[in-house]
Amino acid sequence: MVSILPFYAAIAGAIAVLNVYLGKKREKKRNRDLILSDIRRTLSVSVEDMQRFQASVTEHMDNGLEGNPNGMMMLPSFVDRLPTGDERGEYYAIDLGGTNLRVLWVRLGDKIGLVEDKEVRDWPIPEECFDTDNGLLMEWIADKLKEVASVHASPTSRIVVGFCFSFACKQKALNHGELLLWTKNFRGQGLLGKDVVQTLIEACEKRNLSVSIPALLNDTVATLIASRYKDPNTVAGVVLGTGTNCAYIESTDRIKALRKLTNDGKSQDLPSFDANMVVNTEWSDMIPEALPRCEEDLWVDFASNNPGRGLFEKLVSGLYIGEVCRRILYRLADKGGLFENCRLRRGQPHLLHALLQQNTLPAAAVAAIDHDESRALENVAEVLDEYLGIRNVRKRDLQTTQQVCQLVCSRASKLCAAALAAVMERCQASEDPVRVVAVDGSLFANYSAFRKRLEMGLIELVGLDVASNIKLVSVQDASAEGAAFLAAATSEEMN
Ligand code: BGC
Repeated sequence: MVSILPFYAAIAGAIAVLNVYLGKKREKKRNRDLILSDIRRTLSVSVEDMQRFQASVTEHMDNGLEGNPNGMMMLPSFVDRLPTGDERGEYYAIDLGGTNLRVLWVRLGDKIGLVEDKEVRDWPIPEECFDTDNGLLMEWIADKLKEVASVHASPTSRIVVGFCFSFACKQKALNHGELLLWTKNFRGQGLLGKDVVQTLIEACEKRNLSVSIPALLNDTVATLIASRYKDPNTVAGVVLGTGTNCAYIESTDRIKALRKLTNDGKSQDLPSFDANMVVNTEWSDMIPEALPRCEEDLWVDFASNNPGRGLFEKLVSGLYIGEVCRRILYRLADKGGLFENCRLRRGQPHLLHALLQQNTLPAAAVAAIDHDESRALENVAEVLDEYLGIRNVRKRDLQTTQQVCQLVCSRASKLCAAALAAVMERCQASEDPVRVVAVDGSLFANYSAFRKRLEMGLIELVGLDVASNIKLVSVQDASAEGAAFLAAATSEEMN
């Protein structure tokens, strides 16, 4: 007689395996829902959150202006007179940003505000220059400046350069600035505490390049200047790109920190300044204590070149938002079964490996995911394939990916709106109620959903009437021109 026991045993075994499988699937589904609701809770920014954050920015601004910064440095720029458009002659600018170096030569012409001729050259910053300990950065910049100068000036003539440097510097004069902090991709101790203007002049002298650098300025200050050159209603300059920051025109009386900088607080007499001065807020370094942060924010900070600093920038700017999204997708894949059963591009050993690689999801990819309005979310699928090597993703997982990117972006733009609302309270309009904020950087220029949420956030905070007189104007690559204009204005004043 044939026993049927093995048959029953096999069925019981299969049922047990199936139960384990279904149990795991249920658990993953539960985890996924829990993670998603945790992320929604921590990343969603309500109007009340924005108002609270705005109040905290105002407090940071006040402390910084008093000379007791506890987050926003509020650095006086020593720009108290803005170029008028009357400047004439040939000038250069160096613009060191987070990823590129730009050198500009301009000829300012006879007609007011007219750039008669110009040459712009860009180079990606080479990897070895991001490590500032090796001392190569300024040497490389001087090489590039010499390359451009050799086209327009005779080898013996002295060239006048505006130096746009997109990092926090303690200025004691317009042509002097000690580096306070490296951010973005730069690392190391190189140049910290040193006068970056002097270091660059020395690097140029080694190359027999005679330079005068009458003006050092932050990229936000340069953006403000470039826009104001064309539109006198400009009151602030904002950068929303690899990093983020804002500069605005403040009444000089309110900048108590100036006294400490110019005469160490000893005498009551201040050197004479005009009634207004541009202040570089360095809002990137603000401590967002009023805000919840998810565990991925903490990891992004921990893995960065400057843990504990630039905390606002790490929630907002282009260098970091893709990283926050990637890490959230990793958590969802690891614990919540996201992308289970997808195919991987050849060379990707397994799913978690694909999601573990740092900096693989740039802000442009987040924007493409966020913007996808197709029914099948084809662009989301394309981005996952192109940047992470993940293919054949189910619709539900594509939707989750999009939700994650939208939550991270929406938080970034609303926080920016709150910070901007605080700054706008300070720079009131003169006769004309229209106030222009010049915004440079790819997040604002190329990420339309980011821009719309930022504008909506501003309306929610200041009301439609006030918001309709605040014009956020996208300006592209204006900082080099701003630096050249300021160099022109200052060197003419000195002559
Ligand atoms: C720097 C600022 C700069 C901003 C935008 C930040 O990381 O600290 O000085 O303006 O990036 O480039």
